[in-house]
Amino acid sequence: MSLSEVPASSAAEDAALAEFLLKYPDYERTRRIDALRASDYSRLDALGQVYLDYTGGSLHGESQVRQHGDLLNQQVFSNPHSSNATSAATTDLVERARQYVLRYFNAPAGDYVAVFTVNATGALKHVGESYSFAEGGRYVLTVDNHNSVNGIREFAQARGARVDYAPLTVPDLRIDLPRLDALLDEADRSKPNLFAFPAQSNFSGVKHPLELIERAHAKGWDVLLDAAAFVPTNRLDLTAVHPEFVSISFYKMFGYPTGVGCLLIRSSALPRLVRPWFAGGTVDFATVGGRGHVLSPREAGFEDGTLNYLSIPAVEIGLRHLESIGIDTIQTRVGCLTGWLLEQLLALQLSNGHHMARIYGPVTTTMRGGTIALNLYDPGGHLLDYRRVEELASLQGISLRTGCFCNPGAGETAEGLTEEDMRAGLAAGADITLSRFREVMQHRSGKSAGAIRVSLGLMSNFADAYRFVAFVEGLRDQARLAIGDVTFDVDSCRVMREGS
Ligand SMILES: Cc1ncc(COP(=O)(O)O)c(C=O)c1O
Repeated sequence: MSLSEVPASSAAEDAALAEFLLKYPDYERTRRIDALRASDYSRLDALGQVYLDYTGGSLHGESQVRQHGDLLNQQVFSNPHSSNATSAATTDLVERARQYVLRYFNAPAGDYVAVFTVNATGALKHVGESYSFAEGGRYVLTVDNHNSVNGIREFAQARGARVDYAPLTVPDLRIDLPRLDALLDEADRSKPNLFAFPAQSNFSGVKHPLELIERAHAKGWDVLLDAAAFVPTNRLDLTAVHPEFVSISFYKMFGYPTGVGCLLIRSSALPRLVRPWFAGGTVDFATVGGRGHVLSPREAGFEDGTLNYLSIPAVEIGLRHLESIGIDTIQTRVGCLTGWLLEQLLALQLSNGHHMARIYGPVTTTMRGGTIALNLYDPGGHLLDYRRVEELASLQGISLRTGCFCNPGAGETAEGLTEEDMRAGLAAGADITLSRFREVMQHRSGKSAGAIRVSLGLMSNFADAYRFVAFVEGLRDQARLAIGDVTFDVDSCRVMREGS
């Protein structure tokens, strides 16, 4: 199916597509995705869905579910903790999937182990609760991080390690490298030091430099790379970079299965993970009378209880599915569409000639992925209520996300929210939520809290991007969607209070 045959495409859309193709000729090399979308993801267009929340979760192809169903229905699989034939068949499949994961990320043989978890958060929690944080040691993380990485600071602090955040630069929301270097230089090399950063921001789409891994190693740090938002559209090659820990959720890569993630651990870092407990499945030996246990080595020591053994084989199916499309093809397509979307959003003007959209983070495709965070304004400079925007988008079949995306640090930097602002939010009561905080900020400083996020991925096409821009154009000059009495000048990026 050619793009001009996408249902409901208009002459205006076709003209925009023709212009887009002239500007982004590489898109032509990704046409196989259109064919796959028509055959394996036909539900998207049949239901008129414009899916723009790939950073929330990717979408599965029908063939993945079919292959998985066939596999389950044609054999007998049972709990892998026995040694009978049905159990052994399960173990074979789980171990096959594990090897496939390691191969997919090009992990050199023996250099990494793959621990299956419930999601990226499960992987991050393993690091938090098992990393040997100690007094004199450090936990440094970037302000741009998912809450599941922020939360590790509680484990670090409880064990006496010092916690510091490496700030971001404004407005690009990239890591402030001199300040990060200064923090990394402070490490006492005789103590365990952990540095955590996301390979790609789930807020701004910024790709943080993977060279930081070796830079941190050279200064005496272990590195936790949160790759959850990066691997759906980028190749992670563990022969090129060697983080000690990598967190991943598979549904973010290929939609199905949910409930399975992975922690990749560099074998040389295993001794620095000390599990705080043991459970069924993690011990080679345990006694009640002797009050002792012997933890299983390598990945088995981390897989508590019974694995999600019927879903794990679908991980191999999903990885093969991604390989058959080609991660480079996906990256190229997402790059073209992101470039176009950024240009269109930046060009949107209100009736008074002011800009309508404020984009947080980089406005070109250099070192950024397909996640765009933005807010919209009316001609008076008032913020459009992003929750209403999400509701209106839903009415048009557009799935996007609003809020802070579990990444408060990037949002706080983007909005210029200070420590005092945040303390005022915390002081507003134990029942504080993002909505209430947004009200507190509107009255206190006129700053907004939260944003609209659109994210592209695996099955995105030009029609998705076009329809989102058309939707935003429909919100032009819609003062009735605005909130607060504080205005923002998108052109000069200045907050103003009405009447002042
Ligand atoms: C960068 C990043 N890290 C971690 C996570 C947590 O993933 P999960 O909710 O699957 O555990 C997310 C989820 O959005 C993410 O975007």
